[in-house]
Amino acid sequence: MRPADVIQTKRDRGELSRSQLEAFVSAAAKLEGSSWEKYHLSALLMAIYLNGMTPAETAYLTQAMADSGKRLDLSDMPPCRVDKHSTGGVGDKTSLVLGPLAAACGVHVPMMSGRGLGHSGGTLDKLESIPGFNVNLTEDQLRDALMDSGLAMIGQTADIAPADKTLYALRDVTATVESIPLITASILSKKLSEGIVGLVMDVKCGRGAFMKTREQSRALADSLVKVGTANGLKMSAFITAMDAPLGRYVGNSLEVIEAIETLKGNGPRDLTELSVKLAARMVKLADIADTDAEAEESVRSRLASGRGLEVFRETIAQQGGDPRVIDDYSRLPRTKTVVHVMTDRTGYITSIDAEKVGIASCVLGGGRTRAEDKIDPAVGIIVRAKPGERVSPEQSVFEVHYRDGAKLVEVMPMLASAFTVGDAAPAEEPLVLEEIA
Ligand code: URA
Repeated sequence: MRPADVIQTKRDRGELSRSQLEAFVSAAAKLEGSSWEKYHLSALLMAIYLNGMTPAETAYLTQAMADSGKRLDLSDMPPCRVDKHSTGGVGDKTSLVLGPLAAACGVHVPMMSGRGLGHSGGTLDKLESIPGFNVNLTEDQLRDALMDSGLAMIGQTADIAPADKTLYALRDVTATVESIPLITASILSKKLSEGIVGLVMDVKCGRGAFMKTREQSRALADSLVKVGTANGLKMSAFITAMDAPLGRYVGNSLEVIEAIETLKGNGPRDLTELSVKLAARMVKLADIADTDAEAEESVRSRLASGRGLEVFRETIAQQGGDPRVIDDYSRLPRTKTVVHVMTDRTGYITSIDAEKVGIASCVLGGGRTRAEDKIDPAVGIIVRAKPGERVSPEQSVFEVHYRDGAKLVEVMPMLASAFTVGDAAPAEEPLVLEEIA
């Protein structure tokens, strides 16, 4: 099969066969010795980006990408293995809250997460701000963690979906990232490799998200549910608002603190409610509860009793981290220097631009512009006034935790333009915009 013929099929809006897609993926996983070059892969990515894919093509592509590497086989373990995946947002630390809560309800959560890239944060970077925390577990360690606390929080190993690594890197440099079939196959190929039976998707929508509009988010959620189901997963997807940061803390150590506070019952309402909702759906997909109401009651009781917090403490210890951080935040990396961005008038906060706050946190050193960049876990931003809150002159909107004065100079104008104040409070927007079951 000649690569040019495969490209031509998609260029002319034809449907690719399973074997054509398998040839493409197998070349992406191992270019040496194949008849494909990177320019063939890139050309086909662009043809897919421009002409889309049918549900059948997306399902075959996903399967082939999952099969390009190792797929964990946990089928000898209890069939309550469910994970959650978010398409990425700012201040989104729900994984650190809902993983322990779902596990406390009896779900086995083999959570395989990514690192932050661009303006959105990554769960692995947050976890690694806990001294000693090891996200690289062997399969045996993962199995032990699932049987002990019910939760393991790990990174993607080199042998999981290797075709995705090549294709994602090519998409990044060929302007082909924002393609619904390609995003679907990329996310689900990794999730299918985890050995789960169910997946709850949190598709973020708004200024701080990949998908800026409701239509785009709905199309992505729909595609994820259809293709996940076709590949044997029990799927649920929520479209949730990502115009303002979730919760108040943005930055790696800072987000760990807010997640712990939430597990202690002191979290902000948006983060608490979203974490409960997503964890409850995990409980339902794991067949531990018959109804949504029963699942939610189960999660709320683990939050109120502190059982979720105890699971997080156990997970930190199991993965080599210092569990004393739960009671003593000074054990987490913190900056010594903090400045405030203030309002200059009386009124109500009408918007906080999540994307600008995410970029500012990255520029301070909390994120990466290239995959190999080192991050500073201590820096970040606390949003002191959220939309709907009343402010007066000289009141702090952002508390900036920084280390490097030059970087601070760069982010101050960005943050000064990241909020608006009006005379009236904005209408309260729901956090969960839509559900696609
Ligand atoms: N996250 C992924 O893993 N892949 C994409 O293509 C987009 C977001």
